[in-house]
Amino acid sequence: MDFNNKVCIVTGGANGIGRAIVEQFLQNGANVIFIDIDNEAAEKLVAKHGEKLTYFSGDITNEEIITNFVKMVLKRFKHVDYLINNACVSRNGILSKCSYDDFNYVLKLGVTAPYLLTMLLQDYFNSDAAIVNISSSRATMSQKDTESYSAAKGGISALTHALSISLAGKVRVNSISPGWIDTGAFGELSREDHLQHPVRRVGTPLDIAKMVLYLCSDASSFITGENITIDGGMSKQMIYHGEHGWSYTS
Ligand SMILES: NC(=O)c1ccc[n+]([C@@H]2O[C@H](COP(=O)([O-])OP(=O)(O)OC[C@H]3O[C@@H](n4cnc5c(N)ncnc54)[C@H](O)[C@@H]3O)[C@@H](O)[C@H]2O)c1
Repeated sequence: MDFNNKVCIVTGGANGIGRAIVEQFLQNGANVIFIDIDNEAAEKLVAKHGEKLTYFSGDITNEEIITNFVKMVLKRFKHVDYLINNACVSRNGILSKCSYDDFNYVLKLGVTAPYLLTMLLQDYFNSDAAIVNISSSRATMSQKDTESYSAAKGGISALTHALSISLAGKVRVNSISPGWIDTGAFGELSREDHLQHPVRRVGTPLDIAKMVLYLCSDASSFITGENITIDGGMSKQMIYHGEHGWSYTS
């Protein structure tokens, strides 16, 4: 895929899936600007990749920081081609009494920031532009005590189809719902961690980054408002106690 001379924004690009997205765009010729709060990891990434990569340090739950970030991007590049809304965290849920402020923080990070970035950039997208929002399989299925994250992911999924209609003809807007992606944050994975998946392995950041690039490329020019689940088949698997090797213990 050729992304030469394209301008791509990635939120949360210093680590994990975001870093893989940044590196894939760079390898395919794009100019990449990313915003993050992890200055140490971000600076290492910039040192590794050089002048086609620009870092802006800041917390995207803050309106003023987003405004300043967009001003910086437009001053430098005038227009943008791709916006990848990747950054998100969890602050758990109702069983651990996730507070009003914590709940709102996750929504600001996962839903409001993607909305505001899109709004501020909407008049500055080049033709054939695309937005890719990183949702989660948790937008449609849950474990206990995950309300802040699940609500943010449900929100960004709905934001995706709404924006695809509002920006029709200007920007294609799609989302990706990763399942379990090993970013190194989960320690050593067991054989069972991998084998429980229908594809027999946990996902990698590259599994997601490749789809992001596809959804930005001309190869996907008939796809908008869509969500692509990339979870090794986990959400398609029916589980009943005593069947096919599954057992309920509680
Ligand atoms: N890893 C998984 O298994 C998985 C599964 C489903 C969905 N996702 C989603 O993929 C995306 C990336 O996840 P990841 O696992 O790579 O996460 P990660 O924690 O490895 O990376 C997230 C990045 O976002 C940055 N960030 C966090 N808060 C920020 C803020 N307020 N402002 C700016 N930057 C901020 C972090 O510093 C970090 O660099 C997230 O939206 C996550 O919900 C991940």
